[in-house]
Amino acid sequence: MKWYKIDGVKNTGEPFIKKVKAGKKSICLVGFEGEIYATAVACPHAGFDLSQGLCVKGKIICPYHRYTYSLTTGKGGEGQNDFLQTYPVTINDNDIYVGISSFWDKVRRVFK
Ligand code: FES
Repeated sequence: MKWYKIDGVKNTGEPFIKKVKAGKKSICLVGFEGEIYATAVACPHAGFDLSQGLCVKGKIICPYHRYTYSLTTGKGGEGQNDFLQTYPVTINDNDIYVGISSFWDKVRRVFK
C-alpha cells in the first residue's frame, strides 16, 4: 500500500466533501463529525460523482438516486446489496494521507 498526501486540504475539523487526487486516483474525501474518510468517487449504483452528495448519520448519500453508503465500511444501505470502496486515512500535522493498494497488493492478499 502506498500513502499519498492530499494537497490543498487540511484537517481542520470542519465538515466537507471534495473530489481530490491520491496519486493518479480520484477519490472522494469527506470530513464528517471531526473524522476524515476516503471513498471511491463514483457511486457503485450508476457512477454519479459522490463528492456532490451529502453526509448524514455516518453515511454518504448519493445525490442522484439517494443510495447511501457507510463512511467507515462502505456497506450500502438496506436492500442495496452493494459496497463503496473505502480507503484508509491517516493524519500527520493536520496533513491528510490516503492509502491506496496497488493491483499487486490485492493479488498478494488473495494468495496469503
Ligand atoms: S448513481 Fe448514485 S444512487 Fe444512483
